[in-house]
Amino acid sequence: MGMETVVRLPGRLIVFEGIDGSGKSTQAALAHKRLIERGTKSILLFEPTRGEYGAQLRASFFGPRLSPEDELSLFTLDRKDDLARNIIPALERGETVILDRYYFSTAAYQGARGLDAENILREQERFAYIPDLVFLIDIPVGTALERIRRNRSEGANSFEQEAYLTRVRELFLSFQRDYLHIFHGETPVEELSAAIVKAIFF
Ligand code: TYD
Repeated sequence: MGMETVVRLPGRLIVFEGIDGSGKSTQAALAHKRLIERGTKSILLFEPTRGEYGAQLRASFFGPRLSPEDELSLFTLDRKDDLARNIIPALERGETVILDRYYFSTAAYQGARGLDAENILREQERFAYIPDLVFLIDIPVGTALERIRRNRSEGANSFEQEAYLTRVRELFLSFQRDYLHIFHGETPVEELSAAIVKAIFF
């Protein structure tokens, strides 16, 4: 699946992206709830997954970081697994897939470690199903880190350091795709959700 295969499946793939603490997971869950309320068949998924590769990645978050290359290959394996097992079958059934993080995260987070972000994006687009919509929830890094500290007893992990997230945010904002929409993450939760749902239904 990807740009070479012109095939579009009956379901819709709607992705939420943003730095840690942006509120994207809250917005993904709310969008999923609103779709269900309207009678749209929808599933909520997230990456990294709870599968084999996702588990390896999560285990690495609090220890010493893997090399950027190893991270890239694990996130890619996890995504291929998620596509084959979960995403493509749901789209084939005509369901709306709400996905919390996808390949823009790989381009931005692994790009921020020195890999070529645009190149990662292009490589990912060769195998990954191109989403119908991507909502990038953008927020200043200071606000995001404040939220993380407030909601958690322990401090930020190695994926959540200020300089690193600043670069991740810059990369997210540098991506240009016609299906990518940027929303401001400091907008009150319900107001933001209403705007996103409006964009989903046009
Ligand atoms: P996140 O969705 O924030 O997980 P949690 O539910 O535990 O908050 O994702 C975990 C981290 O993985 C996050 O810091 C972003 C990072 N990440 C990448 O570096 N590359 C990727 O391709 C993906 C999907 C996530």
